[in-house]
Amino acid sequence: MSSLISSSVGEEQNMLLLLEVAGLQVQIAGRSVLEDLDFRLDRGQFCALIGENGAGKTTLLRAILGLQPVRQGSIRIQGKPASELRGQIGYVPQKIAFDPNLPLRTRDLVELGLKGNRFGFRGFFGNTRSAVAAALAAVDGEGFADQRIGRLSGGQQQRAVIAHALVRRPPLLLLDEPLANLDFRSTNTLVQMLGRLVREEKITVLVTAHDMNPLLPFLDRLIYLAHGRAAVGDVDTVVQDGVLSHLYGYPVTVLRHQGRILVLPEDPRQGMETACPAHREAEHGEPGP
Ligand SMILES: Nc1ncnc2c1ncn2[C@@H]1O[C@H](COP(=O)(O)OP(=O)(O)O)[C@@H](O)[C@H]1O
Ligand SMILES: [Mg+2]
Repeated sequence: MSSLISSSVGEEQNMLLLLEVAGLQVQIAGRSVLEDLDFRLDRGQFCALIGENGAGKTTLLRAILGLQPVRQGSIRIQGKPASELRGQIGYVPQKIAFDPNLPLRTRDLVELGLKGNRFGFRGFFGNTRSAVAAALAAVDGEGFADQRIGRLSGGQQQRAVIAHALVRRPPLLLLDEPLANLDFRSTNTLVQMLGRLVREEKITVLVTAHDMNPLLPFLDRLIYLAHGRAAVGDVDTVVQDGVLSHLYGYPVTVLRHQGRILVLPEDPRQGMETACPAHREAEHGEPGP
C-alpha cells in the first residue's frame, strides 16, 4: 500500500516538473562561468535569477536555450533534453533596440513570433489572428497593437517583445533583465503582468535581475548566482546572511526593511592597509602620508 501511495506522489511530482538542471558546468574561453548548478522548476512557477554583473545569468539562460555549449551536466525540459526543444522556449533577450522609423507595428512583431521557427507555425493553437490577439491581450497590449514598435515607451516595448515570445504558448519563458531601464511605474506594471501570466496560464517564468525587490511579491523561487555557484530555494531560505556569505565566500549582511531586501557585502575597505588618505583622515583624524 505504501509503495502505491509513494509512486502516485512521484508521478504527480513528475507532471509538475518543467525544468531540471543537474550538475551543469559551463566554461567560456577556458574560464569556469557556471560550476555544478542543480535546480528544478515546476510548471507555473515564477523564479528570479539574481546576481551581479558577470555572475553568469545570461550564460545560464543561453545554456537552457541550447545556445551555449555546456561542459558537463544536463538540462531537461518536460523530461526531454533541452536541445530537442530549441525554438519552443520563449526568450526575451536583453537590450533590444528598435529604430523609431522601423515600419513594424506591435501586432506585426507578435505575428513574426509564429514564424520564427524553421518548421513554421503549425496551427496548434488556433489561427494566426486569434493567437496574436491572445498574446497581445496577455500583455495588455491591445492599446498599442497598431503603433510602430520603435515609437513605444520602454515598458510598452518590453511588453511587445514578451507578446512576441508568448505567441506560440511556450511552457517556459526566459526574460533577460526585462526591468533594466524601466521607471518605477513601468516596472510594477510589467511585474504584475508576469505574475498574472504565471498564475493564469501556468507558464513557468524565469527572470534575470540584479535587484530582486520589484519581483519579491510574486516570486515562488529564487536562484542566487555568485562566483559561478548558486543558492536555490524560496526567498526567505536563500536570502540569509549565512547562505549568501557562503556563496560569495566573504561576509554578507542581509537587511530587511518594509518588505524590501538589501544585500550588503562586507565593507570593501576592511583589511585594506592603504586606505585613501582622505578616508583615513575623516575616520581616524590622522592625515595620510
Ligand atoms: N563571449 C564571451 N567571451 C568571453 N567571456 C564571456 C563571453 N560571454 C560571457 N563571458 C563571461 O562570462 C561571465 C558571465 O557572463 P554573463 O552570463 O553575461 O553574466 P551576467 O548576465 O550575469 O551579467 C562574465 O565573466 C563574462 O565576462
Ligand atoms: Mg546578462
